[in-house]
Amino acid sequence: MKVLIAYESKSGKTKQQALAIAAACTEAGHETMTKPISEVIPLDLEGADALAVGSWVEGFILFGVKPARPARRWLSGLPSLQGKRAGVFCTYAVNPAASLDVMRRALEAKGAEVVAENSANRRNPESGASEFARRLVGA
Ligand SMILES: Cc1cc2nc3c(=O)[nH]c(=O)nc-3n(C[C@H](O)[C@H](O)[C@H](O)COP(=O)(O)O)c2cc1C
Repeated sequence: MKVLIAYESKSGKTKQQALAIAAACTEAGHETMTKPISEVIPLDLEGADALAVGSWVEGFILFGVKPARPARRWLSGLPSLQGKRAGVFCTYAVNPAASLDVMRRALEAKGAEVVAENSANRRNPESGASEFARRLVGA
């Protein structure tokens, strides 16, 4: 399976989780590409059987907590993802609130089947990455 892992990361924690997911997918024998969302080209999306999207969360801790704006924008501009498996992940400092739901709905609106979700505290950004990878590739 060809797996594309696209992430939005400011200070590196979400990238760290993306790389841990990629390592688990590669180890399971899948062809894996990991990129910041700003570097993803249409061909990357077309060629992927599975797409994982990750973001840090931004807000005011107790309210207005969402995936970071560049990720929200990128998600809304995606082409059709019909027939693709997908996963959403994030890192946060205190509480991700409904950030994963926002990302999941955005991918479902493009026709993807969201089969994996993971949120990790920034103190342990790789937590849950292996289980996420297993679900994403259907192992
Ligand atoms: C402007 C800003 C707002 C943030 N707001 C929240 C928040 O409301 N809730 C939360 O849990 N973390 C919040 N965070 C923390 C980040 O989501 C967290 O540090 C994340 O792991 C950063 O990921 P990155 O290293 O990939 O950029 C905020 C960070 C920034 C810079």
